[in-house]
Amino acid sequence: MLILDAPAAMRSWSDARRARGASIGLVPTMGALHDGHLALIDAAAARCEEVVASIFVNPLQFNRPDDFDTYPRPLVDDIEQCRQRGVTAIYAPTQESMYPNGFETFVVPGSLSEPLEGAGRPGHFRGVTTVVAKLFHAVRPDVAVFGRKDFQQLALIERMVTDLDMGIEIIGVETVREADGLAMSSRNRRLTPSQRAAAVVVPAALDAAAAIIDAGGASADTEAARRSAVELIAAEPLARLEYLEVVDPGTLREPAGPAQALLAVTAVWFGDVRLIDNQLISGLLHSADG
Ligand code: PAJ
Repeated sequence: MLILDAPAAMRSWSDARRARGASIGLVPTMGALHDGHLALIDAAAARCEEVVASIFVNPLQFNRPDDFDTYPRPLVDDIEQCRQRGVTAIYAPTQESMYPNGFETFVVPGSLSEPLEGAGRPGHFRGVTTVVAKLFHAVRPDVAVFGRKDFQQLALIERMVTDLDMGIEIIGVETVREADGLAMSSRNRRLTPSQRAAAVVVPAALDAAAAIIDAGGASADTEAARRSAVELIAAEPLARLEYLEVVDPGTLREPAGPAQALLAVTAVWFGDVRLIDNQLISGLLHSADG
């Protein structure tokens, strides 16, 4: 397994592999790898001969300097996990090679970036689309794999690939969870034991919203579903709700009418740790028909 630390080195490795006819799968990450990331690596390995995992804590997408500073960076452990999982190259570019002096060109996403995460984290998604475009150009993968845990991020990347004719197949992977339902996240490591125990309210609230919507089918009372989920989170003293919405998964906005699928999506704080999660509720038109 090779470790490459600059765009030009990455590109020549990829060019050489491609010249030999190998297909290349890319898994972009910010490191602090957990089983969620490893599921993405497995999905890439199932489709491609070469699997590149990128590890880069991207300053452009952090809107809070303390979040960037405290983001975990267990690089030695990450490298070992990649090796064991069959990654063929790690792309861990330096800050200077990604954003040298004079850097000033960005990929600016559209309306899909405005609600939900975009509303609370100004500039975040511009940082994500810009860095992912740069990773795509350095690796030039056939396939790139992203988690559905970051539903809005995945939607924006699919949009970017279509809009900018990137010709890369985007694969979405189901959220990997702890035994009690909490979505795995690099930020979970920063929870105290009592916050960690309380955090189970996040998937529980989404489950509660999903159960109400499932029962009501396509004409379910989404506002009632939202309210009961919000009440569950409000009842947890260690949790502070930022948003919890039930949206159309295609537009990420309030559904315009009866929907085939809905997305319950939330951001919740525990101390200074911000967790996000979502649940897709599908087959609604079918269940309304009985
Ligand atoms: P990071 O948070 O490290 O996540 C890397 C990838 O792992 C993302 O596609 C994310 O959706 C996926 N992932 C995280 N937790 C998951 C879980 N529990 N189950 C399944 N997949 C999970 O997302 C980023 O980094 C960055 O924004 C990045 C795309 C790398 C750009 O900097």
